[in-house]
Amino acid sequence: MAVGIFDSGLGGLTVLDAVAERLPDLPLVYLGDSAHAPYGVRDADDIYDLTTAAVQRLWDEGCDLVILACNTASAAALRRMQESWIPTDKRVLGVFVPLIEALTERQWGDNSPPREVAVKHVALFATPATVSSRAFQRELAFRAIGVDVEAQACGGVVDAIEDGDMILADALVRSHVDALKRKMPKPEAAILGCTHYPLMQDIFQSALGDGVSVYSQASLVAESLADYLDRHPNMRGSGERSCFLTTGDPWQVSNRATQFLRRKIEFEAA
Ligand code: DGL
Repeated sequence: MAVGIFDSGLGGLTVLDAVAERLPDLPLVYLGDSAHAPYGVRDADDIYDLTTAAVQRLWDEGCDLVILACNTASAAALRRMQESWIPTDKRVLGVFVPLIEALTERQWGDNSPPREVAVKHVALFATPATVSSRAFQRELAFRAIGVDVEAQACGGVVDAIEDGDMILADALVRSHVDALKRKMPKPEAAILGCTHYPLMQDIFQSALGDGVSVYSQASLVAESLADYLDRHPNMRGSGERSCFLTTGDPWQVSNRATQFLRRKIEFEAA
């Protein structure tokens, strides 16, 4: 009954932690493609090839349902995968929709036509590939009208986090927030559209100011997964064991992961 969680590297651990807290009895298999991170500077074909290979690996591990806990993969590859690649007995879900459902105050899975919503000015912080895909704006347009989105591509932040250089990550976040504010001086809400960014959430909030609601995905994805599994209990796969897999160096990745989540995490080679 395992569910797979995929990210390009360590960022998806923020989602894994929230899912493990919400669904403590659900075995989870995490796969981080650290050998190929960051995805945010790759082109869409490259992201598609890497993401499909990783999802196949999680299916082989008995996870019929895989969460792409990576906005870049969700933005650049998920639609193409759903159109032509995923067999009918498997599911792959992205991380944009739960976030947009929360922002537009919808019930999980509400597919009614787009409507006016309270929030009008939204800042999106994401990787260059996510920003250029415009997937967030496309998904938002299916659900809300009249929302102005200003996107800021946060180059360098993921690399700094993966390298454990939090001083550099802090400085980069502040400069990306400044750049966003020059384009949109008063956002009402800010979306952290990359799973690495919750690790910097306090810095985003302090640079944006208290008046801005910062939406971070981890707990929203966990809530919507719980709802999805209630509605589709057959999508709990056959796998029984929880584990952490990496395409990178397991020793190095385990050390970084332990440092980020402040609890011992041991990765195995994927
Ligand atoms: N953490 C991923 C995301 O949510 C991707 C970061 C990267 O590999 O560039 O977008």
